[in-house]
Amino acid sequence: MRNETRRRRLVLFPCPYQGHINPMLQLGTILYSNGFSITIVHTNFNAPNPQGHPHFSFVSLPDGLSENDISTGDITRILTTINDNCKVCLQATLEKGQKLDDIICIIFDEHLYFCEAVAANIKLPSIILRTTSSATFLARYALLTLQAQGYEPFQDSISHEMVPKLHPLRFKDLPLPKSEDLKRAAQLVVDSYTIRSSSAVIWNTMDGLEQSCLMKIQEEYYCPVPIFPIGPMHKFASRTNNSTTASLLKEDSSCIAWLDKQSHNSVIYVSLGSIISTGEKEIAEMAWGLANSEQPFLWVIRPGSVSGSDWVELLPKGFRDGVGERGCIVKWAPQKEVLGHEAVGGFWSHCGWNSTLESISEGVPMICKPCFGDQRVNARYVCHEWRVGLELEKLERKDIERAIRKLILDDEGKDMRVRAKDLKEKVEVSTRQGGSSHKYLNGLVDFIMSF
Ligand code: UDX
Repeated sequence: MRNETRRRRLVLFPCPYQGHINPMLQLGTILYSNGFSITIVHTNFNAPNPQGHPHFSFVSLPDGLSENDISTGDITRILTTINDNCKVCLQATLEKGQKLDDIICIIFDEHLYFCEAVAANIKLPSIILRTTSSATFLARYALLTLQAQGYEPFQDSISHEMVPKLHPLRFKDLPLPKSEDLKRAAQLVVDSYTIRSSSAVIWNTMDGLEQSCLMKIQEEYYCPVPIFPIGPMHKFASRTNNSTTASLLKEDSSCIAWLDKQSHNSVIYVSLGSIISTGEKEIAEMAWGLANSEQPFLWVIRPGSVSGSDWVELLPKGFRDGVGERGCIVKWAPQKEVLGHEAVGGFWSHCGWNSTLESISEGVPMICKPCFGDQRVNARYVCHEWRVGLELEKLERKDIERAIRKLILDDEGKDMRVRAKDLKEKVEVSTRQGGSSHKYLNGLVDFIMSF
């Protein structure tokens, strides 16, 4: 810890989704261990649990979201509403609740761009946290340009063609949002990516993983302020405090005892993150694919994530009895611990950026089945650029069975595991003293202290 940073307060505002709360709270943990005091300001919607972070102060803001807004599940609509509603309240809270002199900076998720305006109003420096890959940033810009040119990049006829100047992405890999309103979604990207008065960008990525994209972003002036790629942030955070969790759902640790009974590299871990839902037909294909693979599996099925049921009611008849002890199903897992367990031989993932980084950090190869947005970009990089995963084209039992067996048992999968272990090593080097993320982190602390 640096003495000069002690008691300087940072205000952090996470975007209220699990895949964004996690990296922001990890950043808080890292900066706290560097001596800063941390206040997490958050929306009432999806409020983080303060218990996991007893050293932080938490302040909840009314967000004005109606039950109706929330029930649509339309992330673009929810985020736009938060940006419209929270500005006045955040400013009043900061001016009233804290002595402004103590706060040296506001760090906000890129999607909560209203924070930048508030910071400028009260003359505080601000920094943006980007929680997706830098390849996604470039792909979103490309998508905006294509849309402005009237392209329809998702026509089947061109979906397998390469996007010009965006190697290795094909049109089908472009980060099409999950929203009814594509115009509003495009505007959210523009608002999130435009830097008006912020002083820097923190990026949860690593030079050794995304060097060429990061260079392109700087060289082509997509980002006119300093960038600090200090990822994977969970690696730094776990060194300071291994027990913290920012999970909105309760983690079921009983799966660790189940993993302890499985043999080395044999288990396929299945999780589609915190947002994706599936239908009855899809869940049946997943179930039979897992059963027919004859490999042990740990499967996270979030409550409510299968349309038309509360939890596992729609799993096909005979499936659970058929797999018996070979399968373990939980509502929510301690994912990082699971990925670090020696029994886990592969991760069937939707390729959210956090899951991707966590898998890479533990040297676990992946089966990639992206759904929307940045997941497609990440999946393409995992399979084609870093070559530590295979793409599951169709959600059909035969393909699933084949993919699992290939990843866990075949030579192709073993080669991927070797490359995944190499990437894990790269992460270790980068986050240790002298490594690139470590250097950028020191640079970030100095930068904040210069305010
Ligand atoms: C969302 C988007 O879908 C994703 O594409 C984007 O990159 C971030 O925001 P999400 O779908 O939740 O995120 O995926 P991901 O980024 O992987 O984040 C999920 C987080 O939940 C991970 O940190 C993972 O460790 C955690 N998790 C997931 C658990 O702790 N337990 C689980 O059982 C499942």
